[in-house]
Parts: sequence; structure tokens; C-alpha cells
Amino acid sequence: MGSILTFQPSIEKSGLDLIKSHFHVIELGAFSENPVIDAINRHQIVGIVTRTEKITEKLLASTPSLKFIAQNGVGVDNIDVDAATKYGVQVLNVPNSNYTAVAEQVVMSVLVLNKKFLPYHQAMKHDDYDVRERIVGTEVVNQRALILGYGQIGQTVARMFKILGIHVTAYDPYLLSSFVQAEGVSHLKKIEYSELKAFDIISVHLPLTEHTHHFINRTFLDSLKESAIIVNTSRGGVVDQNEIDQALKQGKIAGAALDVLESEPPAIDDPILKNEKALLSPHVAGDTREAKVRCAHFVFENIKDYFQNKIPRNLINLNVLNRKEEDE
Ligand SMILES: NC(=O)c1ccc[n+]([C@@H]2O[C@H](COP(=O)([O-])OP(=O)(O)OC[C@H]3O[C@@H](n4cnc5c(N)ncnc54)[C@H](O)[C@@H]3O)[C@@H](O)[C@H]2O)c1
Repeated sequence: MGSILTFQPSIEKSGLDLIKSHFHVIELGAFSENPVIDAINRHQIVGIVTRTEKITEKLLASTPSLKFIAQNGVGVDNIDVDAATKYGVQVLNVPNSNYTAVAEQVVMSVLVLNKKFLPYHQAMKHDDYDVRERIVGTEVVNQRALILGYGQIGQTVARMFKILGIHVTAYDPYLLSSFVQAEGVSHLKKIEYSELKAFDIISVHLPLTEHTHHFINRTFLDSLKESAIIVNTSRGGVVDQNEIDQALKQGKIAGAALDVLESEPPAIDDPILKNEKALLSPHVAGDTREAKVRCAHFVFENIKDYFQNKIPRNLINLNVLNRKEEDE
């Protein structure tokens, strides 16, 4: 049985301990491509546990012993999945582990922005009780939300929104309308910019791919109503951050909650950090205590499946199995 490599910061401790109790694990410091390639080859590493580490074609081409990448998260945009398939490396993720955590953060963001909670909080800290005469919050009941990407998280957000009395439309061309509508959600298979003025809330749940990069661009933002808010808990690259910064400053939209940024961590002079209408968090929507435990334990289950010669339950690149058969 081969060894597994992990990096700092590592996964939740109880999950890591479980992996260590079953398999041989080598723990490295922070990820850096060339030293990692050396370590994989030196120790004949079979699997690596990743979260945000960039797994490039160069790494995959240079490490013939590597057979799987166990991602501690849902999104795999940090991994060149096509190259992994080409080199026979399984990519495993943990899709059912943190959707409630992310959806809760979306609901919180929508309420905080609509209820003007941050300006109230800041004013109270500065002895400005009269803020209540200047700033007024908005109710979310009867607002209209557009959910972009109606997967695990989008569907959970939709259920929570409906409890708040928010009317939900989902954009996801890959799903059957009968499936989406069965949940009482309107279905869009195509975005018509002329129809975006109808929405008060845009919640982004698309994976970052070449098709979704800068999905929210200037044209999209120009099509929204001035009172609209955007919540992005998917990946920074799905939103053109510079355009959203400008749209907020120019009053084209009312607010944005961004858990994810185009560059993480952001540069110290990134304008979005100083934008008072941007509610920011450091990519933690899915990182509740409970979700971290679930993620790490699912990573263990994926690794166990691999070593038991089962098809891992969360294998992203199923084609890799055909490739293996071709090799045999
Ligand atoms: N901020 C965080 O902490 C955090 C945590 C978990 C997940 N995420 C991100 O959230 C994203 C969504 O997660 P999920 O679990 O709901 O994923 P999912 O795979 O269940 O759902 C994604 C949905 O997007 C749809 N989709 C894909 N490409 C599309 C396109 N071009 N246009 C429209 N729809 C498209 C798919 O059909 C699918 O229904 C992940 O990809 C990940 O990047 C972030």
C-alpha cells in the first residue's frame, strides 16, 4: 500500500487522525510545486489530500506514482482535471459535506445586507444612535431571488429562501424543468439580460469553469435594478470583481456579499477591501465546525474506497476508469 501526502494547512484533525490510523501519511509544510513533485517521487506517493493547492499538468506529468487526489471540498477548480484523467489520476471530492453551511451563510448575508445590519453596528460603535433616522432596512419577504446553479447548494438555498417568503427562480440549463419546478421554483435555461431587473437577490452557486468565468460581468451588472444585491459563495472567478467594485461605487447595485475573491488571500491594496458596500468573508461559507468534520471524514471514505479497489463514491473524472482499462 502506498503513502499519502498532506499539506499545511491540513484537514480537520479527527478526519486526519482517522486517515493516519489506517494509512501511511507523510505531512509536508505549505504546498510548493517543485518540492512537492520531489516528495511524491522520492516517497512513491499514491495519493495527495488537497484543498486549494494548484495541481497542474506539470505536476501530474512528473509524478507517475500518483493515483488519486482527494480534494477536501466540493469545487475542484484548483485541479487540472483533464490532465489528471490523461495521466490516470482519480480526482475525488466531498460533495455532500458543507451545503447547509454555505446556504446558511447565504441567508445570513441576504438578511444582513437588507436589514442594513453593518451600518447600524458600526454607527452604534461610534456613538451614532441617530443612524436610525438616516438608514432604513428592507424586508426580504416577497423579494425575488435568482439562483445561478441549482445544484446541492443552490437547492438548499432555495428551500431556506422559500421559508422566508422569497420567490425563487433558478438558472441551470443542465436540469429538467420538471425537476426544478417540483420544488416550487421557476426554471430558467437561459439568462436574458433584459429580464434581470425583476430580481432583488442574485445568489451565485456555479462551479468555476471556462464557461462560468466572469459570468457576472459588466453587462450582467448593468442589467440589474439599483436595489439588487449579489451574494457569491461559489468561486471568486465567477464574478468580475473589478466590475462589481465599480458597480457598488456607482450605485448600480445596492450591496454584495463576497465569501470568495478572485485572488485569495486578496492583495492588501485590493479595492474591494475598502468598499463599504461589500460584505466580505475569507472563503469560510462552508467551514463550520460540523462541515469541516464531515468533509475530512468523507475524504477518509474516498481514500478507503480507493485502497479497497472500489470505485470511490465521489469520483469526479469517471473517464479515468476507461483509461485504466485501456492501459490493462
Ligand atoms: N465558499 C465555500 O466555502 C464553498 C463551499 C462549498 C462549495 N463552494 C462552491 O460552490 C459551488 C457549488 O457547489 P454545489 O455543491 O452546489 O455544486 P453542484 O455540483 O451540486 O452544483 C452546481 C450546479 O451548477 C450547474 N452548472 C454547472 N455549470 C453551469 C453553467 N455553465 N451554467 C449554469 N449552471 C451550471 C450544474 O448543473 C449544477 O446543478 C462549488 O462548485 C464550489 O465552487 C464554495
